[in-house]
Amino acid sequence: MNTTPIKRRRFLAGLAATPMLLGAAPPEGRAAATPTGKPRDQWTHVRAQFALSPDWIHMAGFLLASHPRRVRDAIERFRQALDDNPTLALEQPSANAQMVLKPAAAYLGVRPEEIALTDSTTMGLAVLYHGLPLRAGDDVLTTDHDHYSTHESLRLATQRSGASLRKVALYEKPAAATVESMAHAIRQAIAPNTRVVAITWVHSSTGVKTPVRAIADVIASANAGRAPQDRIMLCVDGVHGLGVENVTMADLGCDFFVAGTHKWLFGPRGTGVIWGRGELWPLLRPTIPAFGFQSYGAWLRGGQVPVTTADVMTPGGFHSFEHRWALGEAFEFHREIGKAEVAARVHELNRQCKDGLAAMKHVTLHTPRQEAVSSGLVTFEVAGMKAQEFVQRMRAKRIVASRTPYATSYARLAPGLLNTPEEVDTVLAEVRQLTT
Ligand SMILES: Cc1ncc(COP(=O)(O)O)c(C=O)c1O
Repeated sequence: MNTTPIKRRRFLAGLAATPMLLGAAPPEGRAAATPTGKPRDQWTHVRAQFALSPDWIHMAGFLLASHPRRVRDAIERFRQALDDNPTLALEQPSANAQMVLKPAAAYLGVRPEEIALTDSTTMGLAVLYHGLPLRAGDDVLTTDHDHYSTHESLRLATQRSGASLRKVALYEKPAAATVESMAHAIRQAIAPNTRVVAITWVHSSTGVKTPVRAIADVIASANAGRAPQDRIMLCVDGVHGLGVENVTMADLGCDFFVAGTHKWLFGPRGTGVIWGRGELWPLLRPTIPAFGFQSYGAWLRGGQVPVTTADVMTPGGFHSFEHRWALGEAFEFHREIGKAEVAARVHELNRQCKDGLAAMKHVTLHTPRQEAVSSGLVTFEVAGMKAQEFVQRMRAKRIVASRTPYATSYARLAPGLLNTPEEVDTVLAEVRQLTT
């Protein structure tokens, strides 16, 4: 639906009133002046956008986003409008959806109408996996390394449809995982009745980044001789790559991509997206009634149920709209910093962290050193120490670390845009101290 000119003008005026990096963004990689005239680098500006406690080193910033200034300001604007007059503020919800879908599409390199909005990765995975056209006798292939939300959504969806669910190991030792070995594991596991391959881009269990492109190529070869209804779809939980890696959906080559936008992307808490290839959306069956014009309109008119689109797959009901409508700001935040710069920075900090940990005799690093198979998460074990104890020892030093929430739990550090190389050094020094 179209945005009224007034509404759009107001929205744009709001954007203009909240320029990003304390004024205009500095040119990529160049120093910008502080209010005192002292030059500071781009990353200091980026960090200054967050209201994070300066008393802590935040090495688990990916878990749940702290909102950068432009996201906070947008939420506040929308909240005021909703508190002031909820009904009028709600009158043009689809206009606001476009304001989110367009920046999201520009960031992902796709069309806005290929994106459904959700409240989290978990909601997106459930909506997608329950929406797949699975039948008894179909096979769904996933891996040993995915998050609870993928495994549980697949368990429930296959239970309902009568499809079988299999899990395959992509690696025995995460540190030794390679692009070829992971793609090979999928190639070997595909069966004639496999209809879905469900993987995770970056494993929060180990920090391994799966080679989505190479796996997509394996699936393309397997699909080559298949009839359309027998083709395998590649579905990805992409939450720990989104907001880190500098790729588009075309680069990844998957069919569906699900991610919460409230982790690395720094979007409003309680937001997420599903992207799917335009031609595949019609195959899906919605679970939650959509509130979009097509779905609600068909019901009002007593007309035909619409062909499934991303909009039809967007769960309806009212949402925490001040958060949802502010999501576009997070995509723009990343685009203004530069996707390539974000990826380079996160990888640089992770390299520093892994190099430091690998040099410690009492530490076993589980995340691979190679960037092709790792991203923003570093998992490891400290000799003689449970992951939970590691987290507590770090907390006593005002360092927020995490442990992996899996049957085998590792210590985890996640250096990201909220961190500096100096902070990584401080954390490494504390880990080194754990022996003495
Ligand atoms: C790989 C992975 N997928 C999904 C989730 C769940 O994300 P959300 O909180 O957005 O549902 C997590 C962790 O929080 C995760 O690590």
